[in-house]
Amino acid sequence: MRGRQYISVLDLSRDETLEVLQVAQHLKLERKAGVRTSDILRGRTWVMLFEKPSLRTRATFEVGIRELGGHTFFLGPQEVGLGKREPVKDVVRNLARWVDGVFARVYDHNVFKTFREYAPSLSVINALSDLEHPMQALADFQTMIEESGDLGFHLVFIGDGNNVANSLMLMSALLGSDFTIATPEGYEPPKEIVEKALELAKKTGARINVVHDPKEAVAHADFIYTDVWASMGQEAEAEERRKIFAPYQVNSDLLRFAPQHAKIMHCLPAHRGEEITDEVIESDRSLVFEQAENRLHTIKAMLIMLS
Ligand code: CP
Ligand code: NVA
Repeated sequence: MRGRQYISVLDLSRDETLEVLQVAQHLKLERKAGVRTSDILRGRTWVMLFEKPSLRTRATFEVGIRELGGHTFFLGPQEVGLGKREPVKDVVRNLARWVDGVFARVYDHNVFKTFREYAPSLSVINALSDLEHPMQALADFQTMIEESGDLGFHLVFIGDGNNVANSLMLMSALLGSDFTIATPEGYEPPKEIVEKALELAKKTGARINVVHDPKEAVAHADFIYTDVWASMGQEAEAEERRKIFAPYQVNSDLLRFAPQHAKIMHCLPAHRGEEITDEVIESDRSLVFEQAENRLHTIKAMLIMLS
């Protein structure tokens, strides 16, 4: 997988994705046994190119690449101004002369098309775009596989058909897990994502559903997932969305309609009192910090596979 890109969940095959997850689990066990350092990425440099804020994605990348013996440096919006100070095609052709890989968090997913066109041999990982958050989905699948032992679970996403939901839907379809999303009308994942998921699901046997009733959605859930109602870049819509999404809060009332064993997930950061209550996110059913921990193991695994 050397020199490959991971922009979308669909950039890796089912087998390749499972291999990354296996490597991540191996790294997790190794780290728990006290083995933290290796020189597998010695002499390699990746840049973090971020247009938006981050805690988990940036911190786990930095810790992960150090533990693998590689180097990284951070370029935020003030330094680069992707497409503002300089055209994207120039930024990427500069970076390609110096670094082995780019870990990029961007607003517009189409930026990655320009990366591919102008620097086809540069390794690129999507650290979140308006369309997908594939590294989050990988960590979440590691978490769910650890919890349930296999891929035969039903993941239910309540809320906005956003980047995180899109990647989770695609990964469910790719790996053969059942996935349901309950959104307000008009906030479903984009049609092309749903179509791709349904097409893949035919091969893998995953059942993919898009519904509007959160109570119906959680009835057979093994995992109940939510994310913010207004993603980074949608701040102007936050007020309006708070009203529209109010019936989609993951709270103890909604959980009365879910199986007792269903676990709670959130990619974080969470807006307590909006998409999820403090009581639910702090409950012993919550996996949010397991998910956050697994961001480290999955990014390390991905770096090893792409290097
Ligand atoms: N879940 C996640 O990507 O968190 P950050 O935005 O803090 O990186
Ligand atoms: N959907 C959220 C995820 C943050 C990790 C956003 O894009 O802001």
